Amino acid sequence: MTDHILIERRDAVQIIRMNRPQKKNALTRAMYAKMSAALAEGDADPSVRVHVFLGVPGAFSAGNDLADFLAVATGGEGGSEVWEFLLALAKAQKPMVSGVDGIAVGIGTTLNLHCDLTFATPRTVFRTPFVDLGLVPEAGSSLLAPRALGQQRAFALLALGEDLPADEAKAAGLIHELVEEGVLEEAAFAAAARIAAKPPEALRIARDLLRSPREPLLARIEEETRLFRERLKSDEARAALVAFMERKKG
Ligand code: COA
Repeated sequence: MTDHILIERRDAVQIIRMNRPQKKNALTRAMYAKMSAALAEGDADPSVRVHVFLGVPGAFSAGNDLADFLAVATGGEGGSEVWEFLLALAKAQKPMVSGVDGIAVGIGTTLNLHCDLTFATPRTVFRTPFVDLGLVPEAGSSLLAPRALGQQRAFALLALGEDLPADEAKAAGLIHELVEEGVLEEAAFAAAARIAAKPPEALRIARDLLRSPREPLLARIEEETRLFRERLKSDEARAALVAFMERKKG
């Protein structure tokens, strides 16, 4: 199994840390698979009360590994790891907290729409260049972002690919709290500990109510995924992905 995802425990908190700093935490299929497994195992383990997603200093995640996307765009087999992770996020039974510092692109942004509390540092920038890549929004973001941010900011983020800096994300409601880099993880852990101290059954019911009905979200993820897979095979996507890879050589 990949060591680009580290699973740690801190009391009742399961920490899921993206740890591929040399690629700014771009997510490979193996990384998605390990995160899905961690969510399932944590949900099944009564000693786990909360999941916490973390990245590395300066990079929460640069989004899906674009080499993996390019492989599909040029005829390769995509696998089901991303799809399974998106469903795992939407179906997770226990609260999820995220601590975001720096780069938060693609799934590095949309993952937070599934979290119950997100903490971010002032230097964090959220970005989803789906359309610029010839793609469409994923992870249910086309449903969740307009709710969280309002229609216009969601359009600017998801369709125009405009940066959403941390202070604006806080003002818009994507972030629970802005905290300095040095205390980000402690802030996330403190929130997780507060959650873990609540009566678990009442908390579970309250969270379920806040998220219900789940069916429209699951249906949207399915629809987005179907469109996303189609788009990955498009000339627009292929050209944009090749351009990113060429940029590397330049
Ligand atoms: N997939 C694959 N590799 C990626 C990546 C991604 N999504 N994001 C970054 N990397 C790689 C870079 O190619 C580079 O690799 P190299 O050192 O072997 O050349 C390394 O990570 C560092 O990235 P770099 O671009 O040098 O860092 P930066 O701080 O200048 O820029 C980003 C960081 C995230 C702004 C920029 O890399 C970027 O735009 N990445 C693509 C993000 C994206 O479109 N994600 C998909 C969203 S759906």
